[in-house]
Amino acid sequence: MSLLSVRGLQAGYGKVQVLFNGHIEVEPGELVGIVGPNGAGKSTFLGALAGSVKPSSGSIEFQGTSIRGKKPEDIVRLGLALVPEGRAIFTDLTVNENLLLGLTGRRDKSGSAKAIAEVTELFPVLASHRGHQAGLLSGGQQQQLAIARALVSEPKLLMLDEPSLGLSPTIIQDVFGVLNKIQKLGTAIIVVEQRAHLIMSIASRTLVIREGHVRATLSREDAKDETKLAAAYFGAGADHE
Ligand SMILES: Nc1ncnc2c1ncn2[C@@H]1O[C@H](COP(=O)(O)OP(=O)(O)OP(=O)(O)O)[C@@H](O)[C@H]1O
Ligand SMILES: [Mg+2]
Repeated sequence: MSLLSVRGLQAGYGKVQVLFNGHIEVEPGELVGIVGPNGAGKSTFLGALAGSVKPSSGSIEFQGTSIRGKKPEDIVRLGLALVPEGRAIFTDLTVNENLLLGLTGRRDKSGSAKAIAEVTELFPVLASHRGHQAGLLSGGQQQQLAIARALVSEPKLLMLDEPSLGLSPTIIQDVFGVLNKIQKLGTAIIVVEQRAHLIMSIASRTLVIREGHVRATLSREDAKDETKLAAAYFGAGADHE
């Protein structure tokens, strides 16, 4: 049984439909990428899985249970956490207070202190900045804090929406290095990423979303095939000179 199994997912905003056919399968501990042009519906797809966008049709099974229509906080407690685009940390609160807020997503309240200790071990920079105001951290540090806060809920599946946005290449390497560690600890991950090559090098499979449809699934080897990559990204035969 897959950890996450999504079929025919449709969603939008008011009368405007954005997602027409969202589907994905994620196995326990797997890292799956999602790429696609701006406005393709990638964030809407993640939002629909996390419960912040209401799907109008389709099925979302997480650990064999339907989670479609559940509230975001209930979905987090079931083990599916989202780090949204733009990080959404509380900039006026300290690093430690932000981490404590992540505890509300825990199924089991016992072990809270241990969860925070484990997460700060993964991100040494947060340990050394625990008392600092989160808004004064660098972009890369804020991204690490956003990931750390999601991890405090001990998700089985962590979803990240463009974690590299606005970060320098070196910091991006750091953030992706952490994703690697998180995956090694047994957590499955979905990453939406604009940099196709970057995500394809670490994901077992990468889905291409265009105009609200999952149009292709690319393997790690496909990253070397520029023609196939371009066709998947822009549409077969599309002229993108
Ligand atoms: N809250 C909202 N209300 C109304 N329309 C929205 C809202 N959020 C997104 N949209 C629209 O839905 C479409 C898909 O947006 P979405 O954010 O899912 O795309 P995306 O693939 O994540 O793009 P990007 O790469 O720029 O982050 C866009 O046309 C966008 O304008
Ligand atoms: Mg987006």
